[in-house]
Amino acid sequence: MKAVIFDLDGVIVDTAKYHYLAWSNLANELGFTFTEQDNELLKGVSRVRSLEILLEIGNITLSQEDFDKYAAKKNDEYVKLISELTPEDILPGVKDFITRLKKSGYLISLGSASKNAVFILKHLELTPYFDSIVDGTHVSKAKPDPEVFLTAAKNLGIDPKECVVFEDAVAGVEAGKNASMRVIGVGEADVLSNADHVISTFENLSLDVLEA
Ligand code: G6P
Ligand code: MG
Repeated sequence: MKAVIFDLDGVIVDTAKYHYLAWSNLANELGFTFTEQDNELLKGVSRVRSLEILLEIGNITLSQEDFDKYAAKKNDEYVKLISELTPEDILPGVKDFITRLKKSGYLISLGSASKNAVFILKHLELTPYFDSIVDGTHVSKAKPDPEVFLTAAKNLGIDPKECVVFEDAVAGVEAGKNASMRVIGVGEADVLSNADHVISTFENLSLDVLEA
């Protein structure tokens, strides 16, 4: 293995709680309740698709104009929340793991659906660790399409078969497998059953996990 590609939300930082807060406020405004369980459906899913799913749950149809307005409103609230992020919000063990990867000569890329990824990495002070950043502003096809990860491999000049992906979302695990990469799930093994291996934390994680 020569390169490691990290998803952002749910792998490097727990932004799901902020996405949830912003989406549930929007649902309240539209007159229905959006639960934390519903929020699971939005992990790894693009902003536009997330709003479509939310509206399906609320059984609401919006004009294109209102759809765009609510998507922008949700993002404004989300951006306010994530602008408070600091390096302390990096999930346990992640920074140490990335530091060890760099020392051992692995190339590192981000592979995220978020259009706020650059902003978040900056607040976490992690930008200099990344040799490539591929996010929602660079790709047109959402996970489980492999585009985001294949673009990362291409940027790094590494064969996809020599890349390892870390992902917390089911659609993300699929995307990594569709890119012919080794996929390590971050979360629960029964949820991420298609991953090659599943970890619950980066704390004290050996680099041996990269090799099958
Ligand atoms: C990640 C998150 C999703 C989010 C998506 C788009 O994949 O897991 O919950 O909807 O990024 O994020 P954005 O910051 O562009 O709204
Ligand atoms: Mg994720």
